[in-house]
Amino acid sequence: MTANRKLIAGNWKMNGLKADGLDLASDLAGRLKGAGPVVFDMLVCPPFPLLFPVGEAIADSPLALGGQDCAPKTSGAHTGDVAPTMLKDAGCRFVILGHSERRADHGESDAMVNAKAVAAHKEGLVAIICVGETEAQRDAGQANAVVSGQLAGSIPAGATAENTVIAYEPVWAIGTGKTATPDDVKAMHAHIRAELNGKIAESAKVRILYGGSVKPNNAAELMAVENVDGALVGGAALKADDFWAIATAC
Ligand code: G3P
Repeated sequence: MTANRKLIAGNWKMNGLKADGLDLASDLAGRLKGAGPVVFDMLVCPPFPLLFPVGEAIADSPLALGGQDCAPKTSGAHTGDVAPTMLKDAGCRFVILGHSERRADHGESDAMVNAKAVAAHKEGLVAIICVGETEAQRDAGQANAVVSGQLAGSIPAGATAENTVIAYEPVWAIGTGKTATPDDVKAMHAHIRAELNGKIAESAKVRILYGGSVKPNNAAELMAVENVDGALVGGAALKADDFWAIATAC
């Protein structure tokens, strides 16, 4: 295990209306406040319209708020885009960038992710940069090379252990119930750690999250793997009991 404090992040994706989001976030904030000192940081990343109400509801708790994407610009004629300044204004400290769903649905390239990370860093946001191979790429023995390329292209020059988190999310494990084995995770996280060396100062302190069908019943095993510094959770982050069980499995 690394000495890094675990980050347990919930990516709500395009799920939930205001009442659901407020219930979930308030429930988690209440549990965190009542738990006393914990060994993890907890983060929720709701859809954009829920950021302000959820941000207000959890403002006096240790529960952190994040966006699921941001534009590479601070303002202007970019219909449908959300600037990092706006995330900051809503109370966000984090932003997820380059999730495989955005890479697939919106054609986001490594260069675009890199530009978004630069803009996020300028606003003082922590960029959670997502990488991960498809099943075909893994079967072809290309997983390490694909992830290396994504890291090289997506991590900006100004990245530090404080302003950047890496999330390894094998595409074939997302929402499928198929989880990478602890050995696969160990090997890929070691590969990512080695790749970060030279790209980011104090690379051992960069948190590397695992994402892909993390559930209460596999969280303890996955979180105990060397170089796993937390989880990026999708489906199981939508239920307070499940998400709390994952966090407390650290
Ligand atoms: O970003 C989280 C993610 O893509 C994993 O989703 O539903 O497999 O936990 P899920």
